[in-house]
Amino acid sequence: MINLAILISGRGSNMAAILNAIENKQITNVDKVVVIANRSDAVGLQIAKNLYGVPTEIILKKNLTNEEFDIKLLDILKLYNVNTSNGLICLAGFMQILGEFIVNMYAHRILNIHPSLLPSFKGLNAQKQALDAGVKISGCTVHFVDTAVDNGPIILQKCVPIFDSDNETSLSKRILGEEHKIYKDAINLFIGNKLKFKGNRVFIS
Ligand code: GRF
Repeated sequence: MINLAILISGRGSNMAAILNAIENKQITNVDKVVVIANRSDAVGLQIAKNLYGVPTEIILKKNLTNEEFDIKLLDILKLYNVNTSNGLICLAGFMQILGEFIVNMYAHRILNIHPSLLPSFKGLNAQKQALDAGVKISGCTVHFVDTAVDNGPIILQKCVPIFDSDNETSLSKRILGEEHKIYKDAINLFIGNKLKFKGNRVFIS
């Protein structure tokens, strides 16, 4: 059994897909779940609480140094027993860089989802970056988090085509549909202890 913390900043559709999968037993062996936001207006907080009955916590970044934020985060992780032997932290639209200390402490226990085929188009507005670059294929990536932004060993990726008629909205929507699927799959692989590492490569056993 794992204890899961989902970190969000906004609408939380990936979070909802994960919570829905837990509710429908598409993800099993999860004991405690907590949703943590760094903004009090993150829409996902209401979804977690009202739709899924999942406890939520808010750590406002305003007025906190990065270190102070991380200490508060660690306190909450401790409270829900999301620890370094049975914990998993999923970043789901969490618009903040976690401190090196936490990333190292939870090495290979923090996942992120990004709306591009990494290592292409890291950072903000990945879908617009793909359109601007004129690529014909984009997609999404679930990866382990390391100390660099949108970096770290890649677990799963899914391609989507880019059509001539696409704009940022239509492409984002197509990618998001795949995000919801591969995040769930990657979490299951993690929980099933199916992910093995060799350097930067992740092998699925
Ligand atoms: C997703 O596109 C995710 O890949 C990126 O931020 C967006 C969050 O969307 N990191 P949501 O809050 O999960 O709906």
